[in-house]
Amino acid sequence: MPRTPSSPAYRVATVNGNGTADLVIVANRLPVDRVTEADGTPGWRKSPGGLVTALEPVMRSNDGAWIGWPGSTDEEMEPFVDEGLSLIPMTLSPAEIEEHYEGFSNGTLWPLYHDVVAKPAFHREWWDSYVTVNERFAAKAAQVAAKGATVWVQDYQMQLVPAMLRELRPDLRIGFFLHIPFPPAELFQQLPWRRQILEGLLGADIVGFQLAGGAANFVRLVRQRVGHKTHRDTIYLPDGRTVRAAAFPISIDFTEFEELARSESVSQRAKQIREALGDPETVLLGIDRLDYTKGITPRIRAYSELVRDGHFDVEDTVFIQVATPSRERVDQYRALRDDIDRLVGRINGDLGKIGRPAISYMHSSYPRHEMAALYRAADMMVVTPYRDGMNLVAKEYVACRYENDGALVLSEFAGAAEELRQAWQVNPYDINGMKATILDAARAEPKEVTRRMRAMRKQVRENDVSQWAIRFLDALASVPHDHGKTVRPARPR
Ligand code: G6P
Repeated sequence: MPRTPSSPAYRVATVNGNGTADLVIVANRLPVDRVTEADGTPGWRKSPGGLVTALEPVMRSNDGAWIGWPGSTDEEMEPFVDEGLSLIPMTLSPAEIEEHYEGFSNGTLWPLYHDVVAKPAFHREWWDSYVTVNERFAAKAAQVAAKGATVWVQDYQMQLVPAMLRELRPDLRIGFFLHIPFPPAELFQQLPWRRQILEGLLGADIVGFQLAGGAANFVRLVRQRVGHKTHRDTIYLPDGRTVRAAAFPISIDFTEFEELARSESVSQRAKQIREALGDPETVLLGIDRLDYTKGITPRIRAYSELVRDGHFDVEDTVFIQVATPSRERVDQYRALRDDIDRLVGRINGDLGKIGRPAISYMHSSYPRHEMAALYRAADMMVVTPYRDGMNLVAKEYVACRYENDGALVLSEFAGAAEELRQAWQVNPYDINGMKATILDAARAEPKEVTRRMRAMRKQVRENDVSQWAIRFLDALASVPHDHGKTVRPARPR
C-alpha cells in the first residue's frame, strides 16, 4: 500500500532523540521508492527486494536509521520516519544516476561480478561519480551514527563506504554485505580500480558474501593485490586491525510467504490463474527481474524445443514467464527486452494455437500476493540464471509449496543451489541437458517430488532471513573493539 509522508505512519525523523542512531544501514536504495501516483501526486512504494523484510525487526529494536536513494527523483527530501524506521533520503543528480547507478554500478560492476556474462564498460567519469556518491553516503552515515554505533553497508553500489567511513569515524563497528557474487581474481583484475575497491571493503570489520567461494576470492585478491597477510578467513592489516571475510547466505521470510500462500485469497487467485489459462494439466513458471544474468533466453528456448519435439502439448501445458522491468535506461537491458519480445513472439507464432500460447509472457511487476498466487499455481518453477548471488525467487517458491508438491528446476550457478541440493539442477549453457532435466522433473513420481520439496522446505525454514541478520550482526558484535557498543539482533518472531 503506497503511503505518503502526510499519512500518520510518517513524521519527521528524530533519530535516537539526539540525531544519532545505534544501527545505521547504508544501501543504494531506501526500503521505499518515491513514485508518482496515477493522479499525479507523489507517494511511496516498498522498493524491490528482501532487504527491507530482513532488516526491519533489527532496525526497530535498535533505533535504526536507513540511508539510501529513494528512486529516480531529483527532489531534495527531509528525513522521515516510516512505521518506526528512520529513513534518510539521499539525492542523486541526473548525472549521478547516469554515471554512478546506471554507469559504474550497473554497466561496470554488475556484469564484471556476474562472470562477465555481458561486457563491462570501463569509463573514468563513471568511476569518479562512484567515488563522489560513496563519499556522500559515508559522510551522511558519519553524521547519523551514535558513538560506537554499528553501521551495516549493503551491496556493490557502496563498496568504498566502509573505508571512507572508518576514516571519518574510527569508533564505529562497520559491516559490509555483498548481495551479488564476488568474482574470481581472473575476472576481478580487469577492473582498473581493483585496488581501490579492495581497500574500500577493508574498511569493514566483517565483509560478508553469499557463498564461501566469494569470500575466498576476496581474501586471495587482498593477499595478491594489496599484499596483506591472510590466514583462512582473516586478513591482518598493518595497523593491527583484522578483517574477517565470511559467507552469510541471505534468505526470505519463510513464515510470511507460507502464510500468504495458505491464505484463502491467494488460494482463490491461484485457482483463477489456472482457469484463465484454460485449466492446463501442467503449469511451468519463471519469474525474474528482466536481466541478462537470469538466463531467460536459454530457458525459453529449451522449453520451446520440448514443445516443438512433441514432449509438451500447448493444449494441456503452458509456461508462464514474468519479467519484471529493471534498469530500463541501460542499453544492455533494452536490447535484452527486445530480444525476449522477439523470441516469445516467434515461439508463440510457430507453436501456439488459438487461446493456447506456448508461453504466457508478462513484462510487469506484481505485488507479493500475486507472486504467491503464481507460485501456488505452478507445478514447476524454472530458475536458470547464468550466475546469481543467491536467487530468492527459488526460496520463495519453496516457502509457498506448503503441501510439499511442486518441482524446482534450478541453475547450479545460482547461490541458492548450494542450499537447495534437492532441486533438479541444470547448467543453463547446456540446452539439451536443460531439456532432459525439465522432462525428468515433469515426469517424476509425486513421491519423489514430495521427498525433494520436503527437504528443501526444511532448509529454507531453518535458515530464514532473520537467521541471516542474526548471524551477521552477532559476528559483527563479537569483533573485539575499543569503542564499539554492542548492537544485538532481534530474535526471530
Ligand atoms: C539486485 C541487487 C540490489 C538491487 C536489486 C534491484 O538484487 O543486489 O542491490 O537493489 O537488484 O536492482 P535496482 O537496480 O533496481 O536497485
